[in-house]
Amino acid sequence: MRRAVYPGSYDPVTNGHIDIVERAAGLFDEVIVAVLINKTKQGLFTVDERIDMLRQVTAHLPGVRVDSWHGLLVEYCRTHDVDVIVKGLRAVSDFDYELQMAQMNQQLSGVETLFMPTNPLWSFLSSSLVKEVATYGGDVAHLVPELVHRQLLARSDEHRARN
Ligand code: PNS
Repeated sequence: MRRAVYPGSYDPVTNGHIDIVERAAGLFDEVIVAVLINKTKQGLFTVDERIDMLRQVTAHLPGVRVDSWHGLLVEYCRTHDVDVIVKGLRAVSDFDYELQMAQMNQQLSGVETLFMPTNPLWSFLSSSLVKEVATYGGDVAHLVPELVHRQLLARSDEHRARN
């Protein structure tokens, strides 16, 4: 069985992520979307909320499951029998750091990284920008799944009520 992991922060999942998951699901027997927990980074959504959103928006993909992990990605791969790390590349600006991580991960454990070019429709899209635009009341409805959009609106309302 060929198993891949598609790691990220997913704070929150965007249409760009979903495009990569759907395409990766066609290449592997199983794709694990792994929320990597970074305790030094305060997210807009909790890890449980991110997982819940991811589960809902990938429910139509039979070979896809969602998990979370705290620690080195290569350790996740070793303990979960994962052969390949999948990463989306939006632009040249992603390449330098992604290449460094891919080479580090390969040296650490032998695990390979597969870079998938992002659909040009989403090449400008990032979770950070979506959060920023949504926080200031901009329309991100076309950039994220509907349920994520609803959660973003609710979070922005909470944020405005507090400030
Ligand atoms: O969505 P992001 O924040 O761009 O994802 C980055 C992520 C979580 C995939 C990356 O930071 C990562 O792999 N973190 C796990 C810790 C780790 O293995 N670090 C060494 C990377 S060479």
